[in-house]
Amino acid sequence: MPDIGSPDSLRVTPLHPHFVARVEGLDLRHPLTPAQSAWVEAQMDRHAVLVFPAQDLTDEQQVAFGENFGPMEAETASVEVHRRRLGHGKMNDISNLDENGRLLAADDRRRMFALGNRLWHSDSSFKATPSKYSLLHARLIPPEGGDTEFADMRAAWDALPPRTQAKLQDLVCDHSLIFSRGLLGFGEFTPEERARFEPVPQRLVRRHPGSGRRALFLASHIGRIQGWPVPEALALIRDLQEHATQRQFVYRHAWSTHDLVMWDNRCTMHRATAFEDKEYPRDMRRVTIAGVCPSLAEAV
Ligand code: OGA
Ligand code: MN
Repeated sequence: MPDIGSPDSLRVTPLHPHFVARVEGLDLRHPLTPAQSAWVEAQMDRHAVLVFPAQDLTDEQQVAFGENFGPMEAETASVEVHRRRLGHGKMNDISNLDENGRLLAADDRRRMFALGNRLWHSDSSFKATPSKYSLLHARLIPPEGGDTEFADMRAAWDALPPRTQAKLQDLVCDHSLIFSRGLLGFGEFTPEERARFEPVPQRLVRRHPGSGRRALFLASHIGRIQGWPVPEALALIRDLQEHATQRQFVYRHAWSTHDLVMWDNRCTMHRATAFEDKEYPRDMRRVTIAGVCPSLAEAV
């Protein structure tokens, strides 16, 4: 084992038969040594989702921990970008709070847009270069609900019959926030937003670099398969989403305050679950680590 502090106190506990582990014994408020961050990355390659309980982090500490794994994404993808709550420009606000810290009104456009997180997705699959990791930290949680579900896209790929795998192998999908928000009937985008959320192509099947395993690259952001009639494409994507989110591939995380959960967007999907968001604040903050290149430029 590399030098990772006190090895006795470092514990990795698997939380699901296919993926997800809890990591205890690392204090994320302090800078990691190169050996420690390499160790965390190796755990990520294996488990794809890591839960670090009881990490009382500031925004700066959360960003600094994320930067061990690569540069942050330069831009957050949101609407009403001029009405930000969080001072840190690279932090994604995953709360139900407005710029004054008050609950978003029922009809607030940001609330409508954020409801898209209830659909299964991979963060930033709608960007030309999709993301590597997301790190979500719980600052304030509601008394009930607001869990997050994760699905294992490597296990889902492995479980497909070889004939289906062969048919999917080389397909390219177009992803956009406009497609996913459209599924919930949210369609009012400004011309500036339409340009910013222009569809981007992504492979449907990727090879996960750290494990060498193949993974389905699915998200509710998919609106087309290149070269296919749209209804046929969306029927296939719907079948695949249902396959990949069967209970045996899903872990549900019930949050405690100060949990930091980190996931690999290249081989998992996730979604938010409901809570009484017009009554209780839920303050979650996310940093997102950029990927290296568009998925079409990756080796398969
Ligand atoms: C995210 C996300 C789900 C949740 O932070 O990217 O989708 O439960 N979050 O808040
Ligand atoms: Mn997300």
